Amino acid sequence: MNKILVKGGNTLKGKIKVGAAKNSVLPIIAATLLSDKKCTFTDVPLLNDVYVITDVLKSLGADVNIDPATCKLEICCNNILSLEPSPDLVGKMRASFLVMGPLLARYGRVRISLPGGCNIGTRPIDLHLKGLSTLGAEIETGYGFVEAKCTRLRGANVYLDFPSVGATENIMVAACLAEGETIIQNAAEEPEIVDLANFLNSIGCKVTGAGSDSIKIEGVESLNETNHIFIPDRIEAGTFMVASAITGGDVVVENVVPDHIRPVIAKLQEAGVQVLEGHNKVRVISNGVISPVDIKTLPYPGFPTDMQSQLMALMSIANGTSIFTETVFENRFMHVNEFRRMGADIKIDGRLSIVKGSSVLTGADVKATDLRAGAALILAGLFAKGETTISDIYHIERGYVDIVGKLQGIGANIEKIKV
Ligand code: EPZ
Repeated sequence: MNKILVKGGNTLKGKIKVGAAKNSVLPIIAATLLSDKKCTFTDVPLLNDVYVITDVLKSLGADVNIDPATCKLEICCNNILSLEPSPDLVGKMRASFLVMGPLLARYGRVRISLPGGCNIGTRPIDLHLKGLSTLGAEIETGYGFVEAKCTRLRGANVYLDFPSVGATENIMVAACLAEGETIIQNAAEEPEIVDLANFLNSIGCKVTGAGSDSIKIEGVESLNETNHIFIPDRIEAGTFMVASAITGGDVVVENVVPDHIRPVIAKLQEAGVQVLEGHNKVRVISNGVISPVDIKTLPYPGFPTDMQSQLMALMSIANGTSIFTETVFENRFMHVNEFRRMGADIKIDGRLSIVKGSSVLTGADVKATDLRAGAALILAGLFAKGETTISDIYHIERGYVDIVGKLQGIGANIEKIKV
């Protein structure tokens, strides 16, 4: 079993490059099922989750070629043989559920196992199913599966009770082959939704309004080939920005769209960290003195829930008390217990965490409880006195390509160890 060992105290300096956005790559790969033409992608992040979603497509009959040397991916779904994705694969990763919309839209039927919940919440799919049935699908659930069928989806007005990212994606993709016009109201506005819409339009779909709370999709009859370049990963960028701040460093984070991480920039500046913006990079300079700031997670453009645990690591060493409000997921404070093992003073009260900053964190044996919590533990370890050993690092490797190597490159004393 591998663990990550971090020895705290180094100040990080230098340049670190962000990869493509995991939460763009997964829905876009799923959406290739709409088309019988070849889709080519470059600079694909070779993450465990990317291999899971491409395995799902292969299990359905798609031609998938990943070249690890060039990070190029070619997919052609002109020979789909099954409409029932492997339950084992779907169970591995929630985002596999995003194959439902394209399969239903193109073939009029799909049978897929219900995605598991995970540590951060029950993560229901009621909004996905409600939206697809509004487009005319007959949906039955039972025995741990969802079965949906239709003659042809019909465009409709879909209102989302919550701006769910996944539900917006599943419905937007399905609507591309529906008959007529669909409008998704109260849609998610994340940059990954815009990236997906840009991919869909590049294969001949007609999607407008992505990035706002109202997305219009005109159904089309045929699609074409495409080459797509993904947007950079705003959460990986934010994670590296906090790494510089928590170590009193001076780091240039490259391959960044500053507009995608406005809330993180604003909160770091409020905490006394200097953030200088470039065209596609940010420079983060800290003198190690961190002021407390309150964080309330919200759907985009609010503060991203995927950066909550990383900011909590930083606030654990602030010179005052911060209040964290997690409004997106009902159970996204599992990292608190792990931070406490390192000496952090944090109290949980429902959706609130009260973080009393202190200048001392000590290294400890801790466990990654989800992808972003694991990354946050690395950040705390970069500051803590002594050694921090992080187990269950498979969580971290789902969303960060070579985070150990990248942090070593800017001076972190960090390594992966076999235990
Ligand atoms: C996406 O998950 C991301 N994953 C998550 O990133 C991210 O945290 C989340 O959006 C919020 O930004 C991918 O894009 C692969 P949601 P998703 O549907 O689509 C409730 C990471 O670390 N909800 O917007 O599953 C749900 O319970 C991961 O990279 C319903 O009630 O998120 C949650 O409370 C973690 N019914 C809230 O909406 C539904 O049908 C947000 O979920 C769907 C969702």
